[in-house]
Amino acid sequence: MPGLRSKILALTALLKASAAFLNATETTSQLVLQNDRLYVAVAKTNGQVVDITLDEEDLLGPVSGNTGKGPYVDCSCIPSGAWTPGAAAQFQLIQGTDSTGTPYGGVRMSDTYTPTNQSIEQWWFLREGETGLHLFTRVTYFNETTPYSRDLGELRTLFRPNTKLWTHLSGSDGNYAPIPSTDAFKNQIVVQDATSYLGNTTQDPYVQQYSNYFTKYTFSELWRDHKVHGQYSDGTTSSDGNTYGAWLVHNTRETYYGGPLHYDLVVDGIVYNYLVSGHYGAPVPNITHGFDRIWGPQYYHFNKGAPNTTLAELRADAAKLADPEWNADFYDSIADYVPNYAPRSERATFKATIQLPGGATRPIAVLSENKRDFQLNVFDQTSLQYWADIDPSTGSVEIPMVKMGTYRLTVYADGIFGWFLQDDVVVSANATPLAFIWEPEAAGIEVWRIGTPDKSAGEYKHGYTPDTSKPLQPEQYRIYWAEWDFPDDFPEGVVFKVGESNESEDFNYIHWSWFPGYANYLSPQPVYDNVNNWTIQFNLSSSQLSGSQKATFTIDLAGAKTANGNNKWATLPDEPYSNVPYTVAVNGEDVETWIIPSYRSGSCGVRSGVVCQNFGHNFIFSTTLLKEGVNEFVLSLPFNATNTEGAMLPGVIYVQYDALRLELS
Ligand SMILES: *[C@@H]1O[C@H](CO)[C@@H](O)[C@H](O)[C@H]1NC(C)=O
Ligand SMILES: *[C@@H]1O[C@H](CO)[C@@H](O)[C@H](O)[C@H]1NC(C)=O
Ligand SMILES: *[C@@H]1O[C@H](CO)[C@@H](O)[C@H](O)[C@H]1NC(C)=O
Ligand SMILES: *[C@@H]1O[C@H](CO)[C@@H](O)[C@H](O)[C@H]1NC(C)=O
Ligand SMILES: *[C@@H]1O[C@H](CO)[C@@H](O)[C@H](O)[C@H]1NC(C)=O
Ligand SMILES: *[C@@H]1O[C@H](CO)[C@@H](O)[C@H](O)[C@H]1NC(C)=O
Ligand SMILES: *[C@@H]1O[C@H](CO)[C@@H](O)[C@H](O)[C@H]1NC(C)=O
Ligand SMILES: *[C@@H]1O[C@H](CO)[C@@H](O)[C@H](O)[C@H]1NC(C)=O
Ligand SMILES: *[C@@H]1O[C@H](CO)[C@@H](O)[C@H](O)[C@H]1NC(C)=O
Ligand SMILES: *[C@@H]1O[C@H](CO)[C@@H](O)[C@H](O)[C@H]1NC(C)=O
Repeated sequence: MPGLRSKILALTALLKASAAFLNATETTSQLVLQNDRLYVAVAKTNGQVVDITLDEEDLLGPVSGNTGKGPYVDCSCIPSGAWTPGAAAQFQLIQGTDSTGTPYGGVRMSDTYTPTNQSIEQWWFLREGETGLHLFTRVTYFNETTPYSRDLGELRTLFRPNTKLWTHLSGSDGNYAPIPSTDAFKNQIVVQDATSYLGNTTQDPYVQQYSNYFTKYTFSELWRDHKVHGQYSDGTTSSDGNTYGAWLVHNTRETYYGGPLHYDLVVDGIVYNYLVSGHYGAPVPNITHGFDRIWGPQYYHFNKGAPNTTLAELRADAAKLADPEWNADFYDSIADYVPNYAPRSERATFKATIQLPGGATRPIAVLSENKRDFQLNVFDQTSLQYWADIDPSTGSVEIPMVKMGTYRLTVYADGIFGWFLQDDVVVSANATPLAFIWEPEAAGIEVWRIGTPDKSAGEYKHGYTPDTSKPLQPEQYRIYWAEWDFPDDFPEGVVFKVGESNESEDFNYIHWSWFPGYANYLSPQPVYDNVNNWTIQFNLSSSQLSGSQKATFTIDLAGAKTANGNNKWATLPDEPYSNVPYTVAVNGEDVETWIIPSYRSGSCGVRSGVVCQNFGHNFIFSTTLLKEGVNEFVLSLPFNATNTEGAMLPGVIYVQYDALRLELS
């Protein structure tokens, strides 16, 4: 028997070996990359992938308009707006064998927008033995006479099928849903820009299992621990009854922006790779003369399972590739084809130990653009970013594959207010491990705190709490905001009693300046009373007050939407609330008006967000304003603070809290 078994194994190996191949070929109309399982064709007419077949299964369906394609690249980057490059492209067919002996093929598409001389290049690589595509994207701008073109508003690649094959969307381990049916979309009621009520199609599986509302923003994810997202076929619609997956893997994340707090769209029937976007307060770079930057690699992974293979299993198969060291030999071998991509000879492992404050949980270290908040790391076109969890018991952290250079180190942790910042941190091949002590921000004795400092408003009412009205129980903040009627929840406004009230019940996830009626499908009457001023009540004893002179009230925000919306650098002379005055009153007396700056702005809760730009302010005042017994703070946004929206969106100003605390000294 052992003899027979080894013969079978040898035969299997032989079949595999003889079947393995990698072809990179060019016809008059297409460039084709093919191995024994995956077939990929790039059309010369549009510079886009137009066919992907895994074994016998067509993963894209027929090209129709913008669908049945991808991964392909588009942007909001030319003076008039959007551009999908490829129509006038040049192509390069690449073939080689990497240092592991594995053959690979690649296609490079280069297109120039001639009116401004800006260009986009896209690479797709396929290796023997893999069922996925490695992607890089490059943007350049060389134009001395117009050195500033505009901002790079958006850059993304899209896998955009046109087939009934795909049955489910998968954002993160806990967030997935059936794809709404064509019928549901046919009968949709648009309730807000890019947001629909599908509830009239009661038989639709999305409506039955997930929500009555659909918006692509519901499936957004936070980059910190994000590994993979994509679409799944449960086998009911495939030609062979097998299950299929199409995934975008975050195997590297150094070329994205905004660090681990970046939050963005991932899937909605299209499997996205958002390289640059202004969503959720994210900043974008400017396109100026000499701009030349590469994004990637990211990996689109396609897989197949047995008829009973679950979404979670196919997802896990893709997630294990989310590692910057995965395929490093291959990336080194192709580095010459991809300008600005750093091979391992230019990389090192960052090692440090950070003495953490007591109570720090989920500590994380971030390397990013030097001397810059990592949430705004778009000023230097060579800007890269890395992060890793810190071992909370030892304070040690290692980040592999960092391009050697000089970075800002940022450390933050749940439970601790503020950040640890260290500039001019040099990452080099022979650096000795660094050691730091994080002395957390403190201004005396902490009297109370509200919420958890965790860079998120998720712990408040309608945040992370599951929506139990549907079996898949999405987190409430993911659902269209109007479902959570503030005047109904808080008819007398927010009055939070420290020590008695409960954050998840008594503190809303959005502090509105008024509650919108426009773009509110459920309640078209705007509400102004008891909305913009929130009250916090707390007791102080004489012993707490005695001996203290200074009170420090910290407000850390997890997001703010000013009149600038996502357009944070714009000057808007007609908008009174580009910069938003936010006032704190102590026992009836205004102590300070803090101006929330436009560059922190981003659409957040209205787009199903609880993590946007994080920033904060300390209100410092004399303890003579405080008294023994009950005290009251009023947190005030301007009454009826409004802005003009171009799209069907509520023109409302709001903030979302991370955490608040009072200290006395
Ligand atoms: C690979 O390409 C060559 C040249 O076009 C072709 O002759 C060969 O059949 C291809 N192999 C497979 C397995 O398609
Ligand atoms: C530079 O940009 C300007 C304005 O967009 C355009 O008029 C000019 O032709 C561009 N220069 C080149 C070399 O393309
Ligand atoms: C146009 O851009 C290319 C790079 O894409 C650059 O080589 C060339 O010099 C630019 N042309 C002008 C006139 O600036
Ligand atoms: C949706 O259903 C409601 C209640 O049944 C009905 O009044 C309304 O006309 C329907 N709307 C559409 C667009 O079908
Ligand atoms: C982009 O240019 C605008 C206008 O000059 C400027 O205000 C903004 O700070 C720039 N942003 C970046 C990221 O360079
Ligand atoms: C899936 O089907 C296979 C073959 O029919 C069977 O061996 C396996 O136990 C099934 N797995 C599950 C999770 O049902
Ligand atoms: C706060 O409210 C939530 C939800 O109702 C509940 O699960 C939790 O136990 C409450 N916390 C406290 C401290 O009462
Ligand atoms: C303040 O103390 C009084 C009397 O002990 C108590 O009734 C009240 O609930 C307390 N208020 C708060 C906000 O803790
Ligand atoms: C809200 O608070 C501010 C600041 O203390 C105060 O001026 C205002 O009168 C209060 N009420 C309303 C409705 O804005
Ligand atoms: C709120 O502001 C809008 C526009 O700025 C104005 O039209 C409206 O009358 C205001 N409403 C109230 C109640 O002040």
